[in-house]
Amino acid sequence: MKYLYLLLLASSVESGFWEDFYRILASENAKKNLIYSPISAEIIMSMVYMAAGGKTFEELRNVLKFSENKTLVANNYRSLLNDLKRREKAIILHLAIRIYVNKKYCLVPEFNEVARKAFKAKAKSIRLDDPVSASAIVNSWILNRTRGIIRKIVSPKDLDPDTSAFLVNAIYFKGQWLYKFQADQTHVADFHVSANEIIPVKMMTLSASLLSADIDDIDAKVIELPYWNSTLSMRIILPNSVDGLRKLEEKVGFIDHQLEKKTVNVKLPKFKIECSAQLKGTFENLGIRDVFKPSADLNGLVLESGAKIEKIVQKAFLKIDEKGGEASAATGILTRRKKSIDNLRLPPMEFIADHPFFYVIHDNKVIYFQGHIVQPQW
Ligand SMILES: *[C@@H]1O[C@H](CO)[C@@H](O)[C@H](O)[C@H]1NC(C)=O
Ligand SMILES: *[C@@H]1O[C@H](CO)[C@@H](O)[C@H](O)[C@H]1NC(C)=O
Ligand SMILES: *[C@@H]1O[C@H](CO)[C@@H](O)[C@H](O)[C@H]1NC(C)=O
Repeated sequence: MKYLYLLLLASSVESGFWEDFYRILASENAKKNLIYSPISAEIIMSMVYMAAGGKTFEELRNVLKFSENKTLVANNYRSLLNDLKRREKAIILHLAIRIYVNKKYCLVPEFNEVARKAFKAKAKSIRLDDPVSASAIVNSWILNRTRGIIRKIVSPKDLDPDTSAFLVNAIYFKGQWLYKFQADQTHVADFHVSANEIIPVKMMTLSASLLSADIDDIDAKVIELPYWNSTLSMRIILPNSVDGLRKLEEKVGFIDHQLEKKTVNVKLPKFKIECSAQLKGTFENLGIRDVFKPSADLNGLVLESGAKIEKIVQKAFLKIDEKGGEASAATGILTRRKKSIDNLRLPPMEFIADHPFFYVIHDNKVIYFQGHIVQPQW
């Protein structure tokens, strides 16, 4: 495996596009907790690609290294999402994506056929002459699609009657750890936000045999926490020094290291994070510009010209506790791990996340979430 934690579906992996994307978000949010979903951002842009023509199409294709064949691109995502749904029964991953188009434009009917099949998403007409009721419509849809978790994704001031089209994306995840943290051992402990700032956090404790490594090249330790009955896991990368996160994140994508199973004594703070990111500026920064201009060619989405994407808002929610993600009523789950004989010969690794760290939730193909925690909140 070339990349330790950056493996994405599109061939844009080679271009480094999504690595740069994360690097920009990470530096813009250096002082804040961050959660972002690369797969959703990729799906959003692929959907826009379906609608794009002319120069807009060429630019997306060049920057994101998409195939020229749109059917091929759509099929990729369709099989990814179908496979995920078939494979994963124990985790819940709600991915809600919608393009809202001002009612003064006419939607191309074929667009939704492709969007629904390939991306489980759609385009929807919306009246924008009253931004208050328009934002209420969008927010109530998001609330429904995230089972009441994400309440608000746009506010009236985000919308005005001249907005031609905007994209919203909410993602919500719920899973349970394969190895649960011992709830009775969670205790208040110090977390070093920086060299001279300490806050109290709820520190969880676990001792288990985990895929892990201590990597000199990046001056950090890595562990992998698997989700129960799932191919997904959460990888946590902890810099050795309190203020090592920034340097670590600059190297995203350039790590090449094998993880090994060994006993790890983990201390990890409980945290909850809900983040809203405006992604348009980041896309523009990396060379995707035409689709945001009045000259955009979105002839696969609307019949008239003059429509452009004005906003891309992504909101993600994640909660990490002793059981895993969101609280769940599931019962009878295995939590006791056996110490294997092999592991006893090696000294356990101490993994104490008492300062800012980087995390990613992924399987072997896709990154669902990535971000960092600089100030755990519960
Ligand atoms: C595009 O890809 C689809 C699906 O693989 C294929 O059936 C079709 O022939 C391709 N079209 C062109 C023009 O290559
Ligand atoms: C979401 O909307 C669907 C259809 O409109 C409805 O059946 C369902 O009960 C709603 N779910 C929630 C959690 O509001
Ligand atoms: C684990 O997931 C599989 C399908 O992915 C399912 O058939 C099985 O019942 C699940 N196990 C438990 C204990 O729920």
